[in-house]
Amino acid sequence: MSNIFASFPRFPLAHLPTPLAEMKRLRAALEAEGVATPHLFVKRDDCTGLAGGGNKTRKLEFLIGEALAQGADTIVTTGALQSNHARQTAAAAVAAGLKPVLVLLDMVPYRGSTYKRSGNRLLDDLLGADVRIVPEGADPATFIKTTLDEITAQGGKPCFVPTGGSNAVGSLGYAAAYFEIADALDALELTKARIVHGSSSGGTQAGLVAGAALRGHGPVVHGVNVYRSDNQAMAEGILRLARATAEKLGAPAPADDAVILEEGFLGERYGMPTEAMVEAVELVARSEGILLDPVYTGKAMAGFLAMIRAGRFPSDETLVFLHTGGMPGLFAYEQEFVQDA
Ligand SMILES: Cc1ncc(COP(=O)(O)O)c(C=O)c1O
Repeated sequence: MSNIFASFPRFPLAHLPTPLAEMKRLRAALEAEGVATPHLFVKRDDCTGLAGGGNKTRKLEFLIGEALAQGADTIVTTGALQSNHARQTAAAAVAAGLKPVLVLLDMVPYRGSTYKRSGNRLLDDLLGADVRIVPEGADPATFIKTTLDEITAQGGKPCFVPTGGSNAVGSLGYAAAYFEIADALDALELTKARIVHGSSSGGTQAGLVAGAALRGHGPVVHGVNVYRSDNQAMAEGILRLARATAEKLGAPAPADDAVILEEGFLGERYGMPTEAMVEAVELVARSEGILLDPVYTGKAMAGFLAMIRAGRFPSDETLVFLHTGGMPGLFAYEQEFVQDA
């Protein structure tokens, strides 16, 4: 691990390193379908800790560190109603003695009966977050600015954390994670490898790509788009963020082709279930006893399985699925998984 990471403010929140486990039973299930399957591993970032775990814990160590260094007393962030990022940011703020304010957008046209009150939304309330829902028709950016101004007018010192914690500070968490994964694979003498994960606001992928640029060698990073219909624009945004993160780290700038972003697994739009997602969530639960989520890891796993089934990866390449968490979201999507819902 490069010691450059020690030069940034960091508030300890994560249980690290997270486990890197082989998925022998999922591999056997695919082999039973007649699919030639390389060695499969899962990096358990659903086990990072912090109110249910997930990828935001690693980002929040640096984001909260920075907020504390700035003397903030309130953390304001934003996301969808079922945002894992919002839930974990609320928990991180509480753990650091800061006040959590969540500006949530009702942006997913999913109308399951539990969507608006269970899963992450329930946990936001339990964590004592000040939840403010952007009114229909209002401009989210203006609403956030008004919220920040109001907190400041009342004598508070708010620090705004962007959607998904995806800026160059948050992405440091995944640059560091790249070293954790690559070092663990090296120790197992698995030198030809690929990390596959769900990409949304892009900070996870940007951080991994920046980490790869800093380390200079190691696994390929392969994102699956679960967020935007414009894949090209999303990949360009991730590359910009990867370059900003690399610059912060004093690493070489990631190359033009450093962001691999797989499309075809988003479905109708962000947050809307797909059949392939349900199949993937059920297959992994029933073969490995591992719970994915309906919005991110389920669609990412659908992409991972489809690429394996299509023979897209060389047989000597070790595949690592990065489990980025999100399990509370399952409870909001009850009707996709419960037979009589
Ligand atoms: C469970 C889960 N996985 C993956 C992601 C995507 O990470 P990123 O926003 O860094 O692309 C998110 C983002 O909210 C998430 O909550």
